[in-house]
Amino acid sequence: MNTIELKKTITALLTEGKGLLAMDESNPTCNKRFAQNGIPQTEEVRRAYRELILTTPGLNDFISGAILYDETIRQLADNGKTFISILNDLGIVPGIKVDMGAKELAGYPGEKVTEGLDGLEARLNEYVRLGARFAKWRAVITIGENIPSRGCIQANAHALARYAALCQQADIVPVVEPEVLMDGDHSLEQCFEVTQEVLRMVFNQLNEQRVALEYMILKPNMVLPGINCLKQDSINAVADATITCFLRTVPAAVPGIAFLSGGQPYELASARLNAMNLRYRSRLPWALTFSFSRAIQQPALEIWKGQKENKSAAQQALYHRARCSSAARLGEYNASIENDATFPLTL
Ligand code: 13P
Repeated sequence: MNTIELKKTITALLTEGKGLLAMDESNPTCNKRFAQNGIPQTEEVRRAYRELILTTPGLNDFISGAILYDETIRQLADNGKTFISILNDLGIVPGIKVDMGAKELAGYPGEKVTEGLDGLEARLNEYVRLGARFAKWRAVITIGENIPSRGCIQANAHALARYAALCQQADIVPVVEPEVLMDGDHSLEQCFEVTQEVLRMVFNQLNEQRVALEYMILKPNMVLPGINCLKQDSINAVADATITCFLRTVPAAVPGIAFLSGGQPYELASARLNAMNLRYRSRLPWALTFSFSRAIQQPALEIWKGQKENKSAAQQALYHRARCSSAARLGEYNASIENDATFPLTL
């Protein structure tokens, strides 16, 4: 394990005022989002969309790292440059999703386990050769009647820990993502209990597998009420619950926490991250940043609709959400930033 290399990657990813852009949707997920917006679901259109994202003027003012997908990491922009070299030129660290998706967990109806450990060492080595410096693995935990089970949490935590150990061995920073889904009508308190149990198990397993906590990033959910819960708690209540939960469960050795957005309305994702930084920043052992997909990309995708003439307006929307997320990472997000549509350059 080359700790100097790992530390360099972590420092770059956790640059003040910047965060991660998840653009690693698997083909089925990307196609689903395209279909919702009437966009053709082909490899070329996925490539054009990812090029739109990566050529957004000013993106690197707010984004420190971008997570790619197996198809995307091999693709080229119109000018013949690889996406990886575009990222490197921008000073954005290239990352890669390495899990193979969440599959039904045998014996546990309604629950999932993430697959992808078989052959992972060889895949990581190939991604390193292609230029990736960090990787992501997502586990999903569902809250419902009598779930999540301990067996499901344990299986996912174990896989996350095995993945993280393999990443560090390959000099890749693991981004460890145990996502407690916001689907359902559960309360904030239920999400708190489940997230606490999941994070305890994840760190137990990370320790069992001898993962060096100094050289990883945690990518968790915020502690939130379910999307269908009648009581939607305030921004500050979410910030307080999330920080309380993490202070109990996330060791101080972990350098950074980069939140997923999980399908929250994008303004709320910004406002909640902002509240955590504003209220707690000076008292926390870890940096609090973002690793959003939908909360950065969604408005851009809706504007683009796969049409060339919408490209600049879509980039403007992407730039705006990246800027709002960056302000939230600094605890400086407010209504005037949300309403300011400044865009640095036109194409
Ligand atoms: P969302 O921000 O849309 O939840 O995506 C984050 C992610 O990378 C999921 O794995």
